[in-house]
Amino acid sequence: MRRAAIVGASGYTGGELLRLLLSHPQVEVTQVTSEHHLGEYVHSLHPNLRKRSLLRFISRQALEPCDVLFLALPHGEAQKHIDHYAALAPYVIDLSADFRLRDPGRYQRWYGAEHLAPAWLSRFVYGLPELHREEMRTARYISGVGCNAAASILALLPLARSGLLDLSRPVIVDVKVGSSEAGASPNPGSHHPERSGVIRTYAPTGHRHTAEILQELGWEQVHLSITSVDVVRGALAAAHAFTQSGVTEKELWRAYRAWAAAEPFIRIVKERGGIHRVPDPKVLAGSNYVDVGFELDETTGRVVALAAIDNLMKGAAGSAVQAMNVMLGLEETAGLEFSGLHPI
Ligand SMILES: NC(=O)c1ccc[n+]([C@@H]2O[C@H](COP(=O)([O-])OP(=O)(O)OC[C@H]3O[C@@H](n4cnc5c(N)ncnc54)[C@H](OP(=O)(O)O)[C@@H]3O)[C@@H](O)[C@H]2O)c1
Repeated sequence: MRRAAIVGASGYTGGELLRLLLSHPQVEVTQVTSEHHLGEYVHSLHPNLRKRSLLRFISRQALEPCDVLFLALPHGEAQKHIDHYAALAPYVIDLSADFRLRDPGRYQRWYGAEHLAPAWLSRFVYGLPELHREEMRTARYISGVGCNAAASILALLPLARSGLLDLSRPVIVDVKVGSSEAGASPNPGSHHPERSGVIRTYAPTGHRHTAEILQELGWEQVHLSITSVDVVRGALAAAHAFTQSGVTEKELWRAYRAWAAAEPFIRIVKERGGIHRVPDPKVLAGSNYVDVGFELDETTGRVVALAAIDNLMKGAAGSAVQAMNVMLGLEETAGLEFSGLHPI
């Protein structure tokens, strides 16, 4: 058994990591930290874990060496102390945005501040196995993914790789996302009277996850908008792009099928009838699966590519555990077999 520690385990992604790792056949969680809940049982904050674990939160200062260390801290925290964390474990996975971008200049441009540990940026592998599986096999440091970025990248990846898109025309991605994206700490926008019932486009332009999409797809431009919707979990990316002239639905199908066949968590959703014809994050709550689909208007060449995920899973903790499995040479799907629920 590999010994894992989770720093920031009182938060939403930390709790989700803990849920996944408690069922992992080759990993044992030995330490969980929270500064505000020292000494409390983990189920005091994650009631779904009652009778699953008798772990109690310890302080970050009390951490002892382990085999793999997960950091589930707010943006900016991991980069302050990365030397210390890396000394505690040979393998580190950081879920924040601190180590997602390779280029310090790009980091400064999108995050408005100089990176505090720029030398570490090139040591981290971006945390989507669908993009970096081979690098992960020899990596020691893996970054998490932005949930909006993960949904956008996974919506676009089969099209980007197919070479069938006309990239001289704009690619516009519209992401709708649930409230757990913002984490467990309350803020004015998460106050129930303000958050409940919203369809609020909080980032029409300029969202930071744009930088991850550009970096990972190797593109010069993508137009991203993010809208909060009234669900707790889930993100749906709808990417609008144009194919080269004459591209048929059949060619796109071929690209999707080849990709999904090689990926354990990618499922194509393209039913002809019924009510489940397109990806819907609702059925993915708690699951690491990504449901993808597309529709092509052959007369105009517009393709609408959809990807649905659970933001706390494939958009955070699920991808992190999948990446850990690859990095440690374990079965890639270990601990991640949950299919989601229907009805829910
Ligand atoms: N939520 C998502 O859907 C999602 C998706 C992808 C990536 N992420 C990233 O994952 C990281 C964790 O997100 P989350 O949603 O789990 O956040 P969260 O629910 O707010 O949890 C963060 C945890 O970090 C601890 N913490 C340590 N230093 C802190 C500080 N200075 N201020 C506030 N909290 C501090 C807190 O516990 P104590 O203070 O008790 O130690 C808290 O429980 C973030 O960097 C986020 O960007 C989140």
